Amino acid sequence: MATTPYTLDTIPTPAYVLEEDLLRKNLQVIRHVAEQAGVEIILAFKAYALWKTFPIFREYISGCTASSPWEAQMGHEQMQCLTHTYAPIYRDEDLETILRCSGHLTFNSLGQFERFYPQVAAYEGHRISCGLRINPEYSEVETDLYNPASSTSRLGIPAADLPAKLPTGVEGLHFHTHCESNSYALERTLEVVEQKFAPQLEQVQWINMGGGHLMTEKDYDTDHLIQLLRAFKDRHPHLRVIMEPGSAFAWQTGTLVTTIEDIVERGGVRTLMMDASFTCHMPDTLEMPYQPRIRGAANSIDDRHTLAYRVGGNSCLSGDYKGDWYFASAPRVGDRLIFEDMIHYTTVKTTMFNGIVHPSIWLHKSDGSWEECRRYRYEDYLHRMD
Ligand SMILES: Cc1ncc(COP(=O)(O)O)c(C=O)c1O
Repeated sequence: MATTPYTLDTIPTPAYVLEEDLLRKNLQVIRHVAEQAGVEIILAFKAYALWKTFPIFREYISGCTASSPWEAQMGHEQMQCLTHTYAPIYRDEDLETILRCSGHLTFNSLGQFERFYPQVAAYEGHRISCGLRINPEYSEVETDLYNPASSTSRLGIPAADLPAKLPTGVEGLHFHTHCESNSYALERTLEVVEQKFAPQLEQVQWINMGGGHLMTEKDYDTDHLIQLLRAFKDRHPHLRVIMEPGSAFAWQTGTLVTTIEDIVERGGVRTLMMDASFTCHMPDTLEMPYQPRIRGAANSIDDRHTLAYRVGGNSCLSGDYKGDWYFASAPRVGDRLIFEDMIHYTTVKTTMFNGIVHPSIWLHKSDGSWEECRRYRYEDYLHRMD
């Protein structure tokens, strides 16, 4: 770990830079919602798992959700809690870790519940509360890749397949149908859930409303969310309500800082060749897909930003580029390209494809100091290929 005075213009690139101030701002919003609404809001590791920052999280929240044995182990060890665990499948060989690290365990199907419940019930380490993931078959998410609630989805049990009388041992229900959604989408979803799963809701002690609640986005109506959750709790006073966003925690908390290493022009298209990659380091820009913001550039032409450039990644994938951005003055080799909002679903999803240099991870602390949380070396690449 190194402590050095840097700026975004001098930090060695490529680098993810997490801003502690911005993270704390999000954590404050989330804690406010949790306290005002009387719900538990826990961190979904699938969006963000920079465990060296978990001490900051623990000042505001006390829980986390894991989607695999390794995430559960990390939550147990680094967040120092028993995780809420949901995974599409559990395997016999994972169960010891899952049981040791989880306080709540949600199953994706009745088959998996029936297979593993006897071991959960017999577990002597601590009490584990079991739940089932339901599929309300209602989602407003338009991108298929991120819509888990279609009628053919493998994730969750549709109402028609869930017995009105839940099996012994089921204490909770879990649904996840949102993605960067607002409170009004949740309101409409809850109407469907309450209507389709009315008998089952009576029988459980908790409901987990999944992730995708982007409550730290500037236009998110947190007052509406709080009212909505309070009203839900009034209708179901026996239920503990849990939400497990990921993106909301890390939303707009930092950047990916890169350097232009070359500029190529082919067929009238100018491409800024940077020392990072869309496919390896910003995968959602291609998968979602969306065009991220670059500091100082515009995503569409305007009076000031008239110079069009594509940006190209440094992997050999032909499609490892995005465009166009518009600049006010011509970028040069050696200039920086600072991609905004590159903390959630980046560091957890990156690859070492092509063996290209992997961005280091920095924390720019509230006191102004810089902490290099992780620098990747050749050995990291080598050992993945053992
Ligand atoms: C079951 C579950 N919970 C929580 C999340 C976190 O969602 P988000 O990061 O959009 O808030 C996801 C994301 O895929 C999920 O699948």
